[in-house]
Amino acid sequence: MGIRIAVLASGAGTNLQALLDAWRSQQFRGADMALVASDKPQAGALKRGTALQIPTLALDPAKFPNAAAFDQEMLVHLAEHNVDVVCLAGYMRILTPAFVQTYANRILNIHPALLPAFGGRGMYGHHVHEAVLKSGARFSGCTVHFVDEGTDTGPIILQAVVPVLDQDTPEALAERVLIEEHRIYPRALALYCEQRLQIAGKRVHILEKA
Ligand code: GRF
Repeated sequence: MGIRIAVLASGAGTNLQALLDAWRSQQFRGADMALVASDKPQAGALKRGTALQIPTLALDPAKFPNAAAFDQEMLVHLAEHNVDVVCLAGYMRILTPAFVQTYANRILNIHPALLPAFGGRGMYGHHVHEAVLKSGARFSGCTVHFVDEGTDTGPIILQAVVPVLDQDTPEALAERVLIEEHRIYPRALALYCEQRLQIAGKRVHILEKA
């Protein structure tokens, strides 16, 4: 049996779509898409899962007393679907320690900047691109990383660089970064499925193809 993947997404789900497209074209070595889950019942991401007959789940945070209870429920569903690896794709919640520990070194996230710069709490969506433009940085990009107990601090798997242009707006930069996100996220998950990612402290070694 292949690795069982869950994708958690809160928004439009274009990164989810990139993962689904790669999965459908057999890039994940016989892996199964076990679940698409969201904290937003209206998330476009859920429709993308449904369109491919993948099980979907919407959990409403308002129905839980706190983040720990919400994550416990999410973990129950992940266990029911025998999920091995969790991909966060525009998931707007910070995972609680219990979640991170249960899936230690088995959670991937995509961030729309070159970590460790422009990460951490409050650095999401347009805030990231605004901060990059304000800083005067000549390059931005995106990062796929393992999730640890910090925010955007886990071992980096892949990055792609995007130049910052003089006339850039946050929206224009976001759009060009997103193109690279869709390219490297499937690539990173493929490496994971091929068991070619070896974590050594903060560094991730990419092993040669067997
Ligand atoms: C992406 O920019 C991703 O890096 C960030 O949230 C955005 C999600 O976009 N974490 P989408 O829902 O995948 O279209």
